[in-house]
Amino acid sequence: MRRKIVAGNWKMNTSVAEGVALAKAVAAGAIEVPSDVDIIIAPPFTHIVPVAEAVAGSRIAVSAQNCADEPKGAYTGEVAASMIAGAGCRYVILGHSERRQYYGETSEKLVKKMRLALAEGLKPIYCVGEKLEERNAGNHFAVVGAQLAEVLFELTPEEASKVVIAYEPVWAIGTGVTATSAQAQEIHAFIRGSLAGKFGSDFAEEISILYGGSCKPSNAAELFACPDIDGGLIGGASLKAEDFLAIAKSY
Ligand code: PGA
Repeated sequence: MRRKIVAGNWKMNTSVAEGVALAKAVAAGAIEVPSDVDIIIAPPFTHIVPVAEAVAGSRIAVSAQNCADEPKGAYTGEVAASMIAGAGCRYVILGHSERRQYYGETSEKLVKKMRLALAEGLKPIYCVGEKLEERNAGNHFAVVGAQLAEVLFELTPEEASKVVIAYEPVWAIGTGVTATSAQAQEIHAFIRGSLAGKFGSDFAEEISILYGGSCKPSNAAELFACPDIDGGLIGGASLKAEDFLAIAKSY
């Protein structure tokens, strides 16, 4: 059975103290979330150690928002997958559209990051999604298909089986505009079909595919009810424990 997952991507928000308080509030409230939902929070690098300590012993898993594409060495400002794993993370978000757009993250780099993360026992949350002009031109399937082919399909089936996919249409991220559940389900089904084509249908049935992009308490239940939507990657709404927990309780 594939896992249901609700993950909070804090992006570049909160002070260390605010982040620790938020993590504690999420851990305390998680008791009301159905037990078959995995809850993940992804704070900034500086917060990982105290946040991991704050949620130790709870059901909350910690994720990083990125990792380096080299294992170690003279790469000023970078943080290695091994460091993230050692600091208490079990997941790492890779290929977020903000990283692709603002930091020139290429498929080639992402394959390296995926392999390094997997070698450290981290589960990558691999983000895919089209821009508005790509959707308007009817190219969204081709764009997402290429993002899968160029990165995920470079991995062995064993490696790829550890990956969680997040479909995040760029036009819905932080905009307040959410994909309709029909739009999201359509592309989630396409992603699962592509996985089946590459790795087989048993494999595809086991992979969790999350929706991200202005997911909030008011729309989460409808999105999560879709057969190929296995949870959410939540940005803005993950910064308030109450909203994040309300989304996780939508299952
Ligand atoms: P949002 O961000 O929920 O604020 O739209 C989602 C994401 O970028 O992961």
